[in-house]
Amino acid sequence: MNIKSQRVFTTLVVVCSFSFLITTVQFAHARAPEVGVQPQPQFRPRFTHQFRIDPDDQEDYMTGETPEGDQKYIKPQQNGDGYESDGSEFSDFEASEERWENSVTPEDGCFEILPYWTWVGTVKPVLNWGYRSDAGANPLCAVANGATAEFTIAGEKKVVTAHKDRDIWRADSPLDGCETRDLGAELIEYQITGMPAPARVVMPPCAKSKEVQFTFLADTQKAPWIAEVFSNILAKLPSQFVLHGGDHVQTGGNRGMWRQFFRAMRPMLGNQAIVSAIGNHDYRDSGKQARNYSEFFDVEPDKAFYVVEAGPVRLFVLNSNFYLKRIDIEEQVKWLESALAVPAQWKIVAFHHPPFSNGIGHLPLPFLSKEHLKIRTYLLPLFEQMGVDLVLNGHTHLFERARNNGIEFMTTGAAGGRMGPFGRRNSKVFFSAQKRTAFWLSADDRHLEVQVLGQSGEVVDTWVKAKSIFSRDVSLPFSIAPGR
Ligand SMILES: [Fe+2]
Repeated sequence: MNIKSQRVFTTLVVVCSFSFLITTVQFAHARAPEVGVQPQPQFRPRFTHQFRIDPDDQEDYMTGETPEGDQKYIKPQQNGDGYESDGSEFSDFEASEERWENSVTPEDGCFEILPYWTWVGTVKPVLNWGYRSDAGANPLCAVANGATAEFTIAGEKKVVTAHKDRDIWRADSPLDGCETRDLGAELIEYQITGMPAPARVVMPPCAKSKEVQFTFLADTQKAPWIAEVFSNILAKLPSQFVLHGGDHVQTGGNRGMWRQFFRAMRPMLGNQAIVSAIGNHDYRDSGKQARNYSEFFDVEPDKAFYVVEAGPVRLFVLNSNFYLKRIDIEEQVKWLESALAVPAQWKIVAFHHPPFSNGIGHLPLPFLSKEHLKIRTYLLPLFEQMGVDLVLNGHTHLFERARNNGIEFMTTGAAGGRMGPFGRRNSKVFFSAQKRTAFWLSADDRHLEVQVLGQSGEVVDTWVKAKSIFSRDVSLPFSIAPGR
């Protein structure tokens, strides 16, 4: 062995010895028990594009894995091309869920579902309620001979015999919004069997109304305690009805979730009617038939598209669940062509899936949702041709604003679902944030205004359109952190 070879050999021996020493120290350190510290289960997030896919739904979201091996939703943060999470939102969510489940509601009394008003494709609003299965044993509930509802309108009493649809009782309001106002009243007092005291409902507007105010929220699905916060905020605002953009509950087939939904929305739905667009989660039961939705809203889910006349606003509610092959977009296009042809000062369209979004999995690669493409291809040209002013959506769990060919698109952040992660930027979306919001809308013959409210009732954004003179936007996106 020459001198050069000896030096190389010596160097190798030194390097190997040093590496062995370092490895041994690290191994020993890693195995050293920590005195006085109990081992804590660690949340092990999966990194980088881990999706759970419903093959029909095409809804994807990121999951993490608990130490027990359960899949849990995580709030991911973008990290390079991938996403990661420490699972913190998962922990907070689970704790709140437990508190809600254990909450006691003595006001429920005789009711499985407390009285609520619907205005889903009908001229008159409808009063609905569901008795508890054991209510018959309570004489105060008196369900044996069927139920009646007593309405007082402008001092005059009318008793209506209710009819039962599956487990829900229904009584049509004796008058619609126009007829009620013709009597000089906007409110109807109502009381049904088992209710401890009469309550009051604001009648929805009618075509003759000069102005209208209503509220909008969506995706209450996973956290009724958040929906309840918004419900309390919106109930204090002047409005004649509430519009829900779909995904009322996380699992449409789970009746307990519906009970929670109606309990959370009680501050509103006892006093004003709900107009509902159906979401993909509302279809989540066996065969995706949306049976509970159908029972609670008295509508055939697949045909849940209709128009309500609300003073200067014609509001078109669509069923955008086109991932279900039986939801025929051409049927709705055909219906819309004639419905939109009726002149109106303001034309607003509401449906669940936004055509433009930065939300991951909802538009960009790797999964291109069919419903968005269909909406763009079939519906947007019609909206533009027929002078639609505003489109309201939910689904992505982001507060987003987009603009395209003179139409404003506003997507409310989830009022109960987990906040959506960001995907690839969409060129039509000019503002996008992980922000829970609900909207308050106001319209007269000159102005259409949307105020975007946060969880404390604060106004975080405003959009105004003045049609007869000019169109303008007043956006205050700086009041919330930009999403991207
Ligand atoms: Fe959805």
